[in-house]
Amino acid sequence: MLKTCIFPAAGYGTRFLPATKALPKEMLPILTKPLIHYGVDEALEAGMDNMGFITGRGKRALEDYFDISYELEHQISGTKKEYLLSEIRTLINRCSFTFTRQNEMKGLGDAILKGKILVGDEAFGVVLADDLCINEEGVGVMGQMVKIFEKYRCTIVAVMEIEKDQVGNYGIISGNEVEENLIMVNSMIEKPSIEEAPSNLAIIGRYILTPDIFGILENTKAGKGGEIQLTDALLAQATNGMVLAYKFQGKRFDCGSLDGFVEATNYFYKKNV
Ligand code: UTP
Repeated sequence: MLKTCIFPAAGYGTRFLPATKALPKEMLPILTKPLIHYGVDEALEAGMDNMGFITGRGKRALEDYFDISYELEHQISGTKKEYLLSEIRTLINRCSFTFTRQNEMKGLGDAILKGKILVGDEAFGVVLADDLCINEEGVGVMGQMVKIFEKYRCTIVAVMEIEKDQVGNYGIISGNEVEENLIMVNSMIEKPSIEEAPSNLAIIGRYILTPDIFGILENTKAGKGGEIQLTDALLAQATNGMVLAYKFQGKRFDCGSLDGFVEATNYFYKKNV
């Protein structure tokens, strides 16, 4: 029922310079798979097979990754290395991939607005691939959110508890619990000071958005940092309708930061050996 997942991937990834000078941040690998691969896997597991990417200049590697490399296939066909390509090959066969560009980096809200053409008038998932999420106990985070969407049919954001001194790095929500781990949002603020923060519940890079978000984003003025903030649009949605925040089950690595990236690498390496 939810078919499309949008992957905003137009950011500069300045925290990984100089690597991200010529390589999209989403292509940085955790072991042998790039971050974007984990994100697409999670969306597919949640039942979405229409993958839409918001890219920018210098992001061609993303398109190439989700295409067949005939030269490479030919080279390793019949050798004992062939299995190394089987996972990405299966992924390519099971999904469709569409790419559109954000010409100016005007924020996450603007990037999602660029996805309107890929989505149409339906609810859709959003995965920020630099947030790597896994749930060893069962269904992935997006899959868990789809189940909630099926019941409530409104916008859902994934949240987690963070240390108070970290609130300035996230969108922070507060509201009333409607079920265990599910909060109806009534307040939301992007990168607040410790004093301003209404709670320690931080939005991470997983969303299910209803399509009215596009109209709201079109009318959202640049906010913090001169960017069109998704948080501002979500607050408008919460005020006029309903937005739920879901405390997900599983683990999230902030792979947009060096610490999180190394932590994820070590975690997956230990899991693999
Ligand atoms: P970040 O805040 O992590 O920014 O964006 P960034 O540019 O990727 O990385 P740093 O901070 O410079 O190191 C969060 C997500 O939103 C996307 C990014 O690609 C990332 O997935 N984004 C952000 C866009 O697609 N467009 C924008 O204008 C801003």
